[in-house]
Amino acid sequence: MGIECYGLDKKAERIKATKKNIDWLRKTYNITYSFKLFLGDATNLSSHVKKVDYIVSEPFMGPFLKKLPKTQEVRKIIAMLEPMYKAVLKEIKKVRAKRAVIVVPVFLARSRKKYFLDLDLKDFRVKSFDYETPTSRLRRQILVLEPKHL
Ligand SMILES: C[S@@+](CC[C@H](N)C(=O)[O-])C[C@H]1O[C@@H](n2cnc3c(N)ncnc32)[C@H](O)[C@@H]1O
Repeated sequence: MGIECYGLDKKAERIKATKKNIDWLRKTYNITYSFKLFLGDATNLSSHVKKVDYIVSEPFMGPFLKKLPKTQEVRKIIAMLEPMYKAVLKEIKKVRAKRAVIVVPVFLARSRKKYFLDLDLKDFRVKSFDYETPTSRLRRQILVLEPKHL
């Protein structure tokens, strides 16, 4: 099968760790796909690849939470994360991906209210799956996005 896989991370140590994982995959499952890794920023994805069919990503989820954050803290974290997620959504459209699966954090505040990133998804057909574990303070949404224009 002629699958070409690309990986992107902005930290060199993660690229190194990914190489190790790929070597293990190749040996264990006899995989022969081509893998190409890029050190770079996902908000600039289209400068690395012009066109991809599918994207899978669990980007930065925000700081590690030792306890449920106060509402004010949640708002700060969301304000810090939103620009990156918004920029990545633009890049998904630019590289004309048929489908992108992106993990997005959902924050449960100390008040027990849930807070979501405010992302403009109107250009996508969207399926959303909630993901949470009893021990994790962070909730996640798995978004399956298909650009409407494709
Ligand atoms: C939550 S971790 C992903 C963990 C991975 N899904 C796993 O299961 O091992 C987030 C990764 O995204 C990378 N990252 C964060 N912001 C990025 C950005 N703007 N562009 C590219 N990579 C980024 C981090 O360096 C980190 O390796």
